[in-house]
Amino acid sequence: METTASVSNGAGPGYEEKENPLSPEDLSEMLAAGTKKVHEKAENTQFVKDFLRGRIRKELFKLGAVALYYTYTAMEEEIERNKDHPHFAPLYFPAELHRHEALARDLEYFYGPEWKSQISCSQATRRYVDRIREVGREDPVLLVAHAYTRYMGDLSGGQVLKKVAQRALKLPPTGEGLEFYQFDGIHSAKAFKQLYRSRMNELDLDTETKERLVEEAVKAFQFNMEVFEELEEMGKTIQEDVLDAGIPAHGEMGGDIS
Ligand code: HEM
Repeated sequence: METTASVSNGAGPGYEEKENPLSPEDLSEMLAAGTKKVHEKAENTQFVKDFLRGRIRKELFKLGAVALYYTYTAMEEEIERNKDHPHFAPLYFPAELHRHEALARDLEYFYGPEWKSQISCSQATRRYVDRIREVGREDPVLLVAHAYTRYMGDLSGGQVLKKVAQRALKLPPTGEGLEFYQFDGIHSAKAFKQLYRSRMNELDLDTETKERLVEEAVKAFQFNMEVFEELEEMGKTIQEDVLDAGIPAHGEMGGDIS
């Protein structure tokens, strides 16, 4: 609420904030520059490339949603624990950003009312979740890096991914199964990202801490890539099951791939 209105509050100690307000020491700039390489690497993982081409099967997409569910559950619980911490409070936007509820609804759509008993946390997701929990309990300033990596990424590529998945998986146009990608509390992703960047830049952090945050964001990207790689491996097993069931290996998987 009132998010855009508060962008201008306290952005700098009396300095003009409109004209080129960013500097290389700003956390938002350090994070963007420091994760550029690993972002490119993440974009080039096989799982992500296949997804973007619409080459995603429903079973694998569902497992991806499960991984996200465990990740966001952990991250948002740790955010709640630290919502009044001065190094996180300005980034606390539960109504706008939090994905736990949306993911729970997506999983109910995919797995039915008993969804909770049908899912489990994979090994790579467990490692990611364990790190988020450790950070939330022992070094909460580093939660900023985890929130940045996921939420800024979701707000950047989310709409494209939503459309790809909707088409490839033939999901209903009403949005069931894709609520994760839908940020109802955000009208302009671009404006919200600007607000989030300025809030990050207003955190009172020394250079060493900012550097640790960049390192942690790189780690967060790596955890995501490990989850993608694991999904890719799981995809091979699913394919074998499909083959065992006598469905042709080639032939573009019928109409599943748009
Ligand atoms: C930003 C594309 C995967 C995290 C962006 C932006 C684009 C983009 C175009 C810039 C948006 C802007 O400046 O407003 C993609 C594509 C991907 C991909 C095409 C894969 C196919 C990922 C993944 C993650 C991620 C896997 C992490 C889990 C981020 C973050 C930003 C971002 C944190 C914000 C960068 C910043 O401005 O500081 N992405 N992305 N992206 N993406 Fe991705």
